[in-house]
Amino acid sequence: MNVAARNTSPITAWKRGWPWQEGGAGRFSPFKAVVFAALLLPALWLLWRTAQNDLGPRPFTELILQTGTWGVRILLVSLLVTPLRQISRYGRLALLRRMTGVAAALYLLAHFILYMANHAFVFDKIFSEILKSNYLIIGLVALVSLMLLLATSTDAMLRRLGGRRWQMLHRLVFPAAMLGAWHYFLQVKADIFQPLLIIGFLAWLLGYRLWRKAQPRGAALPVWAVAVLGVFAGLLTIGIEAAYFAWKIGPAVVPRVLEANLSVEMGLRPGIWVLLVAAGVTLAAGLATMRARRS
Ligand code: HEM
Repeated sequence: MNVAARNTSPITAWKRGWPWQEGGAGRFSPFKAVVFAALLLPALWLLWRTAQNDLGPRPFTELILQTGTWGVRILLVSLLVTPLRQISRYGRLALLRRMTGVAAALYLLAHFILYMANHAFVFDKIFSEILKSNYLIIGLVALVSLMLLLATSTDAMLRRLGGRRWQMLHRLVFPAAMLGAWHYFLQVKADIFQPLLIIGFLAWLLGYRLWRKAQPRGAALPVWAVAVLGVFAGLLTIGIEAAYFAWKIGPAVVPRVLEANLSVEMGLRPGIWVLLVAAGVTLAAGLATMRARRS
C-alpha cells in the first residue's frame, strides 16, 4: 500500500477543514478546489436560470427536478470514490469522499425544501400529500437517512461515535441510495432511461462493495472480478428494462427491448452504457495492476 493510501483512514481523511483545504495545517489543495467548484456548478447554473427567469412555465417543478437529478448523480459519484481509489491505487481520491457525500445530501435537502416551498410550507397539506403517495414516502425515508449521515459527517461526530460505529452507520448510504433510485424510477412518467442508468451503476457499486468485503483483508478485487461485475450490472440493467416493459405493455415486447439494446441506431440503451463504463473501469483496473506489478 502506498503512503497516500495509508494516510487516508476515515479519521485522517475526515479532518480536512474547508472543502478546498488539505491536511492538518489547512493547506490550499488545487485538487479539492477543482472538484468543489465542479460540485457547485449545477447550483450556480440553477441560481443563474432563476435570476434570468429561465425556468419555464413551472419554475418550482423545474428546480425540484434539477436538484433531485443532480443530487442522485452526485450521490453516485460519492459512492464511486472508494472503488475508484482502490482500483486506481490513487490514495488522494479519499479526500473527495466527504465533500461529494455532503454535496449530494445538500442538493437533496434543497430538493425537499423546494418541494415544501412549492406547497407554501403548509405542513399538514405537505404531510397528507406525502402519505398518499408511495414514491414520496420512499423519497422521504431516503432523505431522512441521508440527513442522519450529513449530521454525523463532522470530525466531532466521528470522534464521538468512534471509527467503527461511524463506519457502520455510514453504510446506510447504500439503502438510502437504493431508495432514492426507486423514488426516481417511480416518479418518471414516460422515459425510464436515466433512472435505469442510475440503478445499473448502483448495482455495480453495491456488487463491488459486497465482493470486496468477501476478499481477504485489504486485498484488491482482481481484474477478472471487476470485469464480471461490469457484465453482471449491464445484463441486470437490460433485464430490469425488459421486465419493466413486459409489465407495462406485455411479454411480447421483450424481444424488441433486447433488439433495441443490440442496435446503435436508436442510441445506446442504459444497459449498454453500464457495460461500456464498466469496461472502462476494468481497463483502468488492468492498467493499475500492471503498473503496480512493475514497480
Ligand atoms: C434521497 C432522497 C431523494 C432523491 C434521491 C430524490 C431524487 C429525485 C429525482 C432524481 C427526481 C426526478 C428528476 C427528474 O425526473 O428529472 C425526483 C423527483 C421528485 N421528487 Fe425527489 N428525491 C428524494 C427525496 C424526495 C422527497 C423527500 C420529496 C418530497 C417529499 C421528493 C419529491 C419529489 C417530487 C415531487 C418529484 C417530481 C416533481 C415533478 O415531476 O413534478 N423527493 N426526485
